[in-house]
Amino acid sequence: MTSFEAIKITDRVYWVGAIDWAIRDFHGYSTSRGTTYNAFLILGQEPILIDTVKKPFFHEMMARIRSVIDPTKIRYIISNHAEMDHSGSLPETIATIHPQKVFASKMGVAALRDHFHLDFPMTEVKHDETMTLSDTTIHFFETRMLHWPDSMFTYFVNEGVLFSQDALSMHFASSILFADQHDRSVLQEEATKYYANILSPYSPLVLRLLNQLPNLKLDLKIVAPDHGPLWRTPQDIDWIIQRWKNWAEGKKQRKAVVFYDTMWGSTTQLANVIADGFLANNISVKVFPLSSSHRSDIATELLEASILCVGSPTINQQLFPTVADVLCYIKGLKFPSLIGQVFGSYGWAGEATKLMQTELQAMQVKLIGESVSIKYVPTEEALLACRTLAKTISDQLQ
Ligand code: FEO
Repeated sequence: MTSFEAIKITDRVYWVGAIDWAIRDFHGYSTSRGTTYNAFLILGQEPILIDTVKKPFFHEMMARIRSVIDPTKIRYIISNHAEMDHSGSLPETIATIHPQKVFASKMGVAALRDHFHLDFPMTEVKHDETMTLSDTTIHFFETRMLHWPDSMFTYFVNEGVLFSQDALSMHFASSILFADQHDRSVLQEEATKYYANILSPYSPLVLRLLNQLPNLKLDLKIVAPDHGPLWRTPQDIDWIIQRWKNWAEGKKQRKAVVFYDTMWGSTTQLANVIADGFLANNISVKVFPLSSSHRSDIATELLEASILCVGSPTINQQLFPTVADVLCYIKGLKFPSLIGQVFGSYGWAGEATKLMQTELQAMQVKLIGESVSIKYVPTEEALLACRTLAKTISDQLQ
């Protein structure tokens, strides 16, 4: 018996990852349900470890491996992705088990060297390469920029298991391993959040990969990503692939996102009237006051939104810092085909609205109607201008 145990997922594949129940901030992405770092062991004449775990979880992973085999029996390690939530334990793992080889994509070998400056020689694998190691046949597919240059998939041909690293993942800590054992609404929520915050900038590449997938003629029994539950029924595999396809195609809803911050409540008044104006025009709306909202939740809602409105007071000739933070974050995520406008309040000069418009234009957000910029406290007339703005923007979706 060991302190942690592996979970069997097929005759020859075991989950030997780690559950991070505590994490709430994953490089700026709020992970309210924690996450898992999935690593997998393929048993056979020459056992293989697929990915490792974040460095603090090394001992958990090793204990799970020990519950199945002596770790020094592992002959090979495959690194599908060099980001440190999957490679952080790699140096200690190599030092402990002394594998014969570590395989990674060409870019993966370079990225692992740049991260860990290891002496251990790593072996590059090629895109679309099939490799037979004794009784195990594996196939490698590079998935460059999904979401790092090094990213690749490994397909275990004998049992139809696709190890898809970050692709088709979600941040969701659970000791229940398979998606079909979970509440679908939670999977929908966390899968959406993951795509919005990690994959959005790469949607054209996601679409290309998903369109190529049927041509690969994989006999998929299980899709095993590096975070969250595994997909093991044909319905579940189709479900998550179709969700990804819809997001990659930029499918939109009649939905507006309004985020803002405020100093003395004036910008709050403008935001609430604009939101009410959207509702009056049959547009669903999510309002995010930045005093109580996280940037990654805003990104999640923007994934399927059609409209973005942003509000800020002017402070020392600048945007309110929280607004600048979210604008910077979502600019990198490259949400396509948004329309919208900006609003805000000021005391003696209203630089914030122009600054926000510049940012939205840099994001290719099409500005509709006139911004609302009011001095100190809004009059009834200013609030009516907010309602008119909501109608003008809504009319664009007819
Ligand atoms: Fe889960 Fe890109 O690391």
